[in-house]
Order: sequence, then structure tokens, then C-alpha cells
Amino acid sequence: MVEIVVLAGGKGTRMHSSIPKVLHPICGKPILHWILEEALKVTEKVHLVLGHSIDKVREQVAQFPVQIWEQDLIRYPGSGGALRAAMEGIEGNQILVLNGDTPLITATDLKPFLEVKGEIVVGVTTLPDPTGYGRVIETPDGEILKIVEEKDATPEEKRITKVNTGVYRLSKRVIERYLDRLDNRNAQRELYLTQLVQLATGDRLQVVAVEVDPVHFKGVNNKRQLAEAEEIKCREIKNRWMEMGVVMHLPETIYIDAYTSFEGESEIEPGVVLKGSRIVRSKIKANSVIEGGEIVDSEIGPMARIRPKTQIFRSRIGNFVEVKASQLEGVKAGHLSYLGDAEIGEGTNIGAGTITCNYDGTQKYKTKIGREVFIGSGTKLIAPIELEDQTMTGAGSVVNRNLPKGSLGIARPPLKIIPNFFYRFFNKK
Ligand code: UD1
Ligand code: MG
Repeated sequence: MVEIVVLAGGKGTRMHSSIPKVLHPICGKPILHWILEEALKVTEKVHLVLGHSIDKVREQVAQFPVQIWEQDLIRYPGSGGALRAAMEGIEGNQILVLNGDTPLITATDLKPFLEVKGEIVVGVTTLPDPTGYGRVIETPDGEILKIVEEKDATPEEKRITKVNTGVYRLSKRVIERYLDRLDNRNAQRELYLTQLVQLATGDRLQVVAVEVDPVHFKGVNNKRQLAEAEEIKCREIKNRWMEMGVVMHLPETIYIDAYTSFEGESEIEPGVVLKGSRIVRSKIKANSVIEGGEIVDSEIGPMARIRPKTQIFRSRIGNFVEVKASQLEGVKAGHLSYLGDAEIGEGTNIGAGTITCNYDGTQKYKTKIGREVFIGSGTKLIAPIELEDQTMTGAGSVVNRNLPKGSLGIARPPLKIIPNFFYRFFNKK
């Protein structure tokens, strides 16, 4: 059985970030999760090499059944040094080595590496802009001779557009033969795994090239490449849901993360953001943001915001309504409201500008609103509070006591009318 080694011990200097490179999210999911999920589809023997920020990264991959190895960054820096860390755990002879910063690779993309023969197989591709990648130097008859890193390349070598993707299949024998011979006589003073290719061809060993898809083998070294990879991944996510029956208007304006799912036929308008949500037979109108919500048989937006721990069933949520940690069933909340930590029953209408005052500066409190309740516009509900079934509030009321079934709660300062005040105030006749 092939074993996979994922190299993720690098610093990610070019990211200019306090977050380790491999933990940066793509569509909400860390780069390394994308890779480990696909690697585990290929084999159950996945080794992960960590180095920089090892504790942070280790904590974030705890759920994956992979074996973690620590790179000795002082004595053996670089991708060649990283591979060394995993070697004592390798049992079989066939090893697939992946860089930890190529989040778009799928298990299917890795298949060709398992099918070709040879002791050294390198994934290569041709890019119109090869900047940043190691260039593949070939003999006149097209055999791979060596890989030259961008920083070590001559101007002439930099013009080569065939690049190393950082995916290799190597036999254990070859690795053991050459790993100790890697040196750091290069611009970065690191042990380059890519030097192995040159050492092997020097011994007249054949290096086999596998031509791969330039899109899926993109590496992420800086935030521009991070954004490019996210754009590709997000498009793939949306295409998949559209193929499953979700309607999307101008999908290029819609963001859907890796943890969102759909059931039945839903419709998504432009500018919508969906994160970690479950959308069932619903319509999400333009520019709404739903994070961690469960939306079933409902209509949301335009410009609504649904926050985590919210379940909305058979309801209509309109513009500028924010709902957080609430359960709504058969509710209409059409305009400009905040519903937080609330439970609202069937047939209830929430008037414009209703606020659940759920926070007193130290703690959050619940608002319970029963069935067929009519909340007048501009009502402030001071939680904790319960409005029983078939109750009403007067517009503009501040309601701070429970309402028994059938009652009206109205709290409104008496209106004072001062005749002709306007004319006096502005000195007009
Ligand atoms: C690497 C390849 C380059 C290839 C490119 C493809 C080398 C020397 N160069 O360059 O030929 O075109 O990937 O994307 O391998 N790592 C460690 N420990 C370290 C250093 C790096 O584990 O000490 C890991 C990184 O976390 C990363 C991978 O190795 O996942 C590659 O390192 P990176 O610095 O991204 O190399 P590139 O410059 O992208
Ligand atoms: Mg890289």
C-alpha cells in the first residue's frame, strides 16, 4: 500500500501572517484539512511532518487519523529536511510526497502517480506565469535533468514555464539512498527535496514526469495565491450544488463555504454569503449573510443576517433583520429587527424595528414568544421575558413583564400636543 507524506513544517514567510500558512482557511476550511481529507481517501497511512508552530497546527488536525512527525528545523531545514522526519515511520516501499500548501489537489488527481512505473515520479505542469515555482530543466530529448528553484535560477532558466508541482512518488530505497546527500548550497541555505532529482539523474536513474492539471496543483505561498485558490475552490463548491439542483443568480457574486449544505430546490440571489449553514427548500435573497443557520422552507432577505445556532422553519425574514441563536417557526419578521436568544411560535408577526434586549452588559437572556402573537412596530422586549400565545404589544412599547395569554402589553408615554410650537421654534408665521 502506498503511504503519503505531507510536508507542512515550513514557516510560510511569504504569507506575512501570524497564522501558520497551512491553517489559512479556503472556503472556511484550513488548507491542511483539504489536503489530509484527500490524502486519506488514497491511503490510510498518512504521515504529516510539522515544524514551525507545531503545537498550533497539531491542535488543528487532531481529528485526522494521521501520524505526526516533527522536523528538526535547525539541523535539517527545507522540504528535504522535512521528508527525513517521517522516514522512520515508513513501512512500505512506495511513498507519495505532497507539499502541505496545495489545497486544490484531490484523490482523483493523485491516481496517475500510482499508475506509472518508476522509482522517481515528479508531477509537472506548464504555467503561463511560472513565478515562484521550481523550474523543470530537461535534456534535449525531453528527459527531466533537474529542478531549479526560482531563487537559484539563471535568467534563462527563469523563462522555462514547465514547473515542479511539489508532488512526487518515490521509492523508499531512492529516498534512503539520496536523503543524506542533499546539501544546502543554495540561495535559501536549505535542504531542497528537489535536489534529489539531480542526484538521481547524475546516477543515470530515470525520473518520470507526470503531467498534471495546472489548476489543481497550484501552490499557496502568499495571500494572492490564497485568494486565487479560494476562488477556484468556491467555484467548484457552487458548481456542485447547482448540479444538485440549487438555483444561483450570478453565482460569481455568491460565497458558499465548505461547511454549507443544501437539500431540495433552493434559490440564491446575488451577493449572498453562506457559511456553515443548512439550506432546505428556501429562497435566500440578495446580499443576505447566513452563518451557522438552518433555514427550512423559508424566505430570507434581501440584506438579512442570520447568525449561529439559529433554526428558521416556514418563515419570512425581511431586510435588515438580524437573527441570532433563535428558533423561529412560521414567523414573519419583515423589517429592521434584532431577534437574539429568542424562541418564536407559529403565526407570529414581528413588527418593524422590534428588538429583543437580550444582553444586560454581563449576561444574555431568553425571549419566548408564543403562537399568533402580534408584536407592534418598535417594541423593545426586555429579556428574560415570555409572551404567551395570542398576545399583542402596542407599537413603541418597552415590555419588561411577561404577557399572559390573550393580553395586550402597551407602555407608551402619553403624547403631549403643543399647538403652533413649530412656528415659534423656527420663528416663522
Ligand atoms: C516547492 C518546491 C518547488 C515547487 C513548489 C510547488 C522545494 C525546494 N521547492 O517550492 O520546486 O515548484 O513547491 O508548489 O521543495 N516545508 C517543510 N519544512 C521546511 C520547508 C518547507 O515542511 O523546512 C514544507 C512547507 O510547509 C510546504 C512545502 O514543504 O508545504 C514546500 O515548501 P515551500 O516553502 O512552500 O516551497 P515552495 O517555494 O513553494
Ligand atoms: Mg509552496
